[in-house]
Amino acid sequence: MIKTTSFIRQNFLEFFKEKKHKIYPGSSLVLENDPTLLFVNAGMNQFKNIFLGYQFTKNKRISTIQHCIRTGGKHNDLKNVGYTNRHHTFFEMLGNFSFGSYFKEKSIIYAWELLTSKKWFGIDQDRLSVTIYENDIESFHIWKNIIGLSDNKIIKMKDKKNLLYTSKNFWKMGKYGPCGPCTEIFYNYKEKNKKFLEIWNIVFMQYNALPNKIYKKLKTPSVDTGMGLERIASILQGVKSNYKIDIFKNIIKNIKKLNIIKKNNNQSLRVISDHIRSSSFIIANNILPSNENRGYILRKIIRRAILHGRNIGINKCFFYKLVPILIKFMGSENKILIKNKNKIEKILKIEELKFSETLKKGLKILKNEIINIKNNILDGEIVFYLYDTLGFPIDLTKEFCKEKNIIIDKISLKEKIKKQKENSVNKIKTKINGISLPKIKKNIFVGYKNFKKNSLIKLLYVKKKIVSIIKNKEKGQIIIEKTPFYPESGGQIGDSGVIKSKTGKFIVCNTKKYGKFIIHNGYMDYGYIIKNDLITAKINLKKRKLIEKNHTATHLLNSALKKILGKNVIQKGSLINDKKIRFDFTYFKSLTFKKIYKIEKFVNKVIQKNIKIKYNLKKFKEAKNKKFTFLKNKIYKKIVRTISIKSFSKELCKGTHVKKTGKIFLFKIVNEKSISFGIRRIEALTYKKAFSKIKKQEKDIQKIKKIINSNDCYYIKKIKNILIENKKLFKKNKNINKKYIYLISKKISKKVIKINNNYFLLYQFKNEKKNNLKYIIDELQKKFQSIIIILINFSKKINFLIKISKNLTKIIQAKKLLLFMFKKIKGKGGGNIYISEGILYKSNSIKKEIILFKEFIISKLKKL
Ligand code: ALA
Repeated sequence: MIKTTSFIRQNFLEFFKEKKHKIYPGSSLVLENDPTLLFVNAGMNQFKNIFLGYQFTKNKRISTIQHCIRTGGKHNDLKNVGYTNRHHTFFEMLGNFSFGSYFKEKSIIYAWELLTSKKWFGIDQDRLSVTIYENDIESFHIWKNIIGLSDNKIIKMKDKKNLLYTSKNFWKMGKYGPCGPCTEIFYNYKEKNKKFLEIWNIVFMQYNALPNKIYKKLKTPSVDTGMGLERIASILQGVKSNYKIDIFKNIIKNIKKLNIIKKNNNQSLRVISDHIRSSSFIIANNILPSNENRGYILRKIIRRAILHGRNIGINKCFFYKLVPILIKFMGSENKILIKNKNKIEKILKIEELKFSETLKKGLKILKNEIINIKNNILDGEIVFYLYDTLGFPIDLTKEFCKEKNIIIDKISLKEKIKKQKENSVNKIKTKINGISLPKIKKNIFVGYKNFKKNSLIKLLYVKKKIVSIIKNKEKGQIIIEKTPFYPESGGQIGDSGVIKSKTGKFIVCNTKKYGKFIIHNGYMDYGYIIKNDLITAKINLKKRKLIEKNHTATHLLNSALKKILGKNVIQKGSLINDKKIRFDFTYFKSLTFKKIYKIEKFVNKVIQKNIKIKYNLKKFKEAKNKKFTFLKNKIYKKIVRTISIKSFSKELCKGTHVKKTGKIFLFKIVNEKSISFGIRRIEALTYKKAFSKIKKQEKDIQKIKKIINSNDCYYIKKIKNILIENKKLFKKNKNINKKYIYLISKKISKKVIKINNNYFLLYQFKNEKKNNLKYIIDELQKKFQSIIIILINFSKKINFLIKISKNLTKIIQAKKLLLFMFKKIKGKGGGNIYISEGILYKSNSIKKEIILFKEFIISKLKKL
């Protein structure tokens, strides 16, 4: 019987359950409390703090099946996927862990028993060999004397160049963190010419790796093991490639069935079947494609899959179509996929559509270049052009070239990238918004500390032209030597205020930065202003202070979002003025009331602590290392300004801020919504505006209480009761109305006249409810098989309704009758052959016309 992957998972857990392990669920792919990890890359990640002794666990023996992603950091397999039979971006790791319970001996015995016992996996012992860390005498002894392996089957792995703990058999989670010597079990699947496959790694966690090559001994030596499900499945299912085990066989078979593939290329099929797994699981874990962090890795995976799709001749959007296939074979054990199906499909589709355009252009250029290539070396300049102008990722060019055995000229590529970086920093704009910028020294912002400054007029503009005077009431722009006015940037609006000279007053409506110049926009309130005048520039301080409260609160909001929603939340834009805060960020779901409350609570807590805001100038690199938040696609200068509010918020920012958080007084979110796919917007208030908002809500509640006549705290209950009562009344009313309809229909039905074998009724109401007419006409129709009914209701308007039994519609139709009626009595309406309705316009002759109309129908029916 073939051992399916499902069976292997169950069997593995059963074995360790028998050995008194507690079965834990695998963690989510993203561990928010571990900033050293982009994605979970091993079964032990979720237990890191237990290994390090920072966290206690009641269960000393645990076993899990953990989803892992290995596409970055210390463990990165992305480049190998597709080119080998064994690598994946996403895989499942079977693991058992001991936290001070058993150590080397038992863990080795357990692994050996599970692998070789006939009761369990039953692998032929002769096929297995092991590696150990070179000085691990204890493991050597266990393998040799307890398990009974011959010396030549125990291979000692040395440290590289005698550098401590650099051996392959010294396992580290990352650069820092828990680590220790390990022993690995290998399967030899070619009897004669040996070909080994690593199947199980048993790590003896003994140290905490710290910076500067310090290895601190752990108090409780522990065990961490990991066996890749896909690899062990390939052995137990007797296939030579992970991509031939049941899951992949099924996925690939079904991809082929979609009939989209034109060229059969196993490499590409492997990539696609692997990447649909990783990208779907990543999206299901709430990560969206982007240009940063996890989102970037996701984007890279999706794009790589699409590229391989194109490689096998798929020229249409296809990747999202594989989601149902994946769900078919992995959904029952991974409900998270089913729950997020629509989201995954939608995101993959959008991403492919966007990327297709880039790809089309880029590939065309690349293919052309390759035709003319010399010595199989592609010029870095082309690679750079594709990347810089078209947005065609360098990684993809590399991948494309790798397949065709072409080498990229890395030196010329590096040079190009360096040059571009320099250019973008030094680029000086000479004309912005039609204003030509002068070749004079830039003006200086002094507004962090000065709110009023004596200075000198350097340049004046009227209608975008340089002038020597701005006259009374004229609009214009002014550049002064030193200015306290903050120019709009980083979301913070520019300052407003006045620039006064001896001869006039210029009102500054806003301040902007044009190239290196700070320019004040406004108009002459009175008098005039001349170049080289001495002036006093004074900002609207009251407004600035309100802006500052909002700006500092925005930093706290940014931290709160990261803390409460996850590190992956990225700022996408902001507007900070004297009235409110608007903050856009990446997030997929709407925020619950509880989450919003938590965010507000965090920000207000820091406000209450009244913390002093600290400013510093730092080297960009240093700030980055010290984990200051910055915008990834913005180019920063070498020296940057940092703003820190103790450990609560650390950001790069040029804006102006309050001195102490207490000045913000209060922070309140007033709105939260989606503004585009995967991007949400929060609007918030601070200080008096936040207080007024709360007061306003309180006032509204007072009003409600007054309306429902409830002054106590039970008003919610009272509203609920009113609604319940209302519902009951509605029901009761409906029943009464039903009875009324029945009775009135019965009464009216007496007026029905019989003409030959058909019936006819034209009935006129006074002030009947319009809705009731419909019920009455239906009720009447039930009573007569072959009838024409016309109901007219004289209320504010004159409503009418015509209904004709199906058999009669061959002769007379409701809509036609209505049109005929309109010839006599003006009105408007519509309908079909069975029913028509509308209103009639009031007129003096209406009663008479109705009688005539009635007679017309009667005469028509008589003729039948
Ligand atoms: N944590 C070990 C690994 O991932 C078992 O190989």
